[in-house]
Amino acid sequence: MLHIIDHPLIQHKLAFIRDKNTSSKEFRELVDEVATLMAYEVTRNMPLEDVVVETPVATAKCKTIAGKKLAVVPILRAGLGMVDGILKLIPNARVGHIGLYRDPESLQPISYYGKLPSDVYEREVIVVDPMLATGGSASAAVDFLKEQGATNIKLMCLIAAPEGVKLFSENHPDVDIYAAALDERLNDHGYIVPGLGDAGDRIFGTK
Ligand code: PRP
Ligand code: URA
Repeated sequence: MLHIIDHPLIQHKLAFIRDKNTSSKEFRELVDEVATLMAYEVTRNMPLEDVVVETPVATAKCKTIAGKKLAVVPILRAGLGMVDGILKLIPNARVGHIGLYRDPESLQPISYYGKLPSDVYEREVIVVDPMLATGGSASAAVDFLKEQGATNIKLMCLIAAPEGVKLFSENHPDVDIYAAALDERLNDHGYIVPGLGDAGDRIFGTK
């Protein structure tokens, strides 16, 4: 299922993220801020358990998050830009890494790295990548996570293309997608239109 998080703060910041005149420094800061805001929504249904806390005045019945903490898994490189923003809200989350790049000709994902928490199969996993374009990279990342035993997975991206949502949902109908925007389409080079350009290059200033 696709969830568009259309909170005004997120939409406002996304406008500046898309702007070609936004510097790498501002781009990084804005992606970080939007990741924090999106994490608030993506974690909305996390299970809670009852706890009893002694306040200075009396006993209070409270709730804390139940079970194991989350794992955040960025797809390298661009997904790295969303990790710190999530860790601001969930500082004890474990962080795994999946290295993929898209072959510029075939647009197929090429795998070059994978390191996950050893107990990833017990954790709720949030896969992060700013762009869901053809959906190949996100599908391959979730394939890898499932091979390692993960069963409770969500995908968080800034901008999704209809083509990517379709492919990813066909491959992984059990994984909900959270995006700040659903754009029009892909262009002939597999870039999202209107999109924001190359997310990795804009985060790291490599172009
Ligand atoms: C970008 C983006 C996604 C992928 C999306 O990464 O960050 O990982 O493309 O495209 P897809 O949905 O068609 O697979 P890229 O391959 O440019 O690598 P980078 O993050 O290292 O720049
Ligand atoms: N990867 C990007 O960084 N941008 C796109 O528009 C598509 C894939």
